[in-house]
Amino acid sequence: MDFKNIKYEQTQQLVSITVNRPAKLNALNAATISELHEAFKVANMDLEVRVIILTGSGEKAFVAGADIKEFVRFNQIEGTELATRGQQLLFDYVENLETPVIAAVNGFALGGGLELAMAAHIRIASENARFGLPEVSLGVIPGYGGTQRLPQLVGKGRAMEMILTGGMISAEKALSYGLVNHVVPQDQLLVQATELAKKIVKNAPSAISAAITTVNAGFDVNQNGFEVEKQAFGSCFGTADFKEGTNAFLNKRKANF
Ligand code: COA
Repeated sequence: MDFKNIKYEQTQQLVSITVNRPAKLNALNAATISELHEAFKVANMDLEVRVIILTGSGEKAFVAGADIKEFVRFNQIEGTELATRGQQLLFDYVENLETPVIAAVNGFALGGGLELAMAAHIRIASENARFGLPEVSLGVIPGYGGTQRLPQLVGKGRAMEMILTGGMISAEKALSYGLVNHVVPQDQLLVQATELAKKIVKNAPSAISAAITTVNAGFDVNQNGFEVEKQAFGSCFGTADFKEGTNAFLNKRKANF
C-alpha cells in the first residue's frame, strides 16, 4: 500500500500501523487522517488480520495532536466540519472496528493523539509517555471525542481537571487513572503489545467482534447494553467459532479459530 504519512506492516495475523511524521511529532493533518482510515479499513477487511497495533514513529511522540498549522485559519463552520470528519473517519471508526486495536503509546499523546489512543480498545504505554488534552490553551476544546471518552476512562473529576488545566500527566499517573493498562520500558513497548495481541489472537474472532460491539453499546445513550448483549450472545451460538470452541473444549484439544 502506498501511504505517505503512515506505515502499514503485516506479520501473519498482526498488523501494525505507525503514524509516520516524526518531524511534526506525528501530528494529525487531514491527509494522515484519510490514510489512517484507509489503513484501518484494509486491515479490518482482511480476514487473516486479528489484531491491529497502532503506534507513532520515533521515540518522542505517539501523536502530538491535530495539526495546528492546518486549522489555524478555520472559521466556525470549518471547525465543526473538522471535528465531524475526523470523528467519522477515524475516532468513531476505530472505536467501532470489528478488529481489536491496541494503542502502543510511545511518547507524547496530546490532544488528538490522546483522543486516538482513547478510541483504541486497549492502551499500553512506554515509561516516557505523556498524556494531555491541551486544547483550551489554544482557545478550543477537544473535538475528536476527548470530552466524552476521557471521563468514560478516568471519571468525570479527573477528566475535568485534565481538560480544564490542559496539563500533561505521566505514564505512571495514567496507569493509576486507568487510562492505560500497562507501562513498560520503551524498548519493550512493541514486544509487550505483541504479547497482548497474541493472547487475543487465540480467541474466537467472531466473539471478539461481538464483545467490542457489546461493550461499546453500554456507552451509547441510544442503546441498551444489556439488550445488545442478549442478542449478541445468542448470535454467537450460530457461528462456526462457537462450534469449534466448544468442540475443542469437550475433546480436550486447543481450539483452532
Ligand atoms: N501540530 C502541528 N505541528 C506540531 C504539533 C501539532 N499539534 N506538535 C508539534 N508540532 C511540530 C512543531 O511545530 C515542530 O515543528 P517545526 O520544527 O517545523 O517548528 C515539531 O513538531 C517539533 O515540535 P517542538 O514543539 O519543537 O518540540 P518540543 O519537544 O519543544 O515540544 C510538545 C513538544 C509536544 C510539548 C510541543 O510540540 C507541543 O506542545 N505541541 C502541541 C501540542 C498540542 O497542543 N496538541 C493539541 C493540538 S489541538
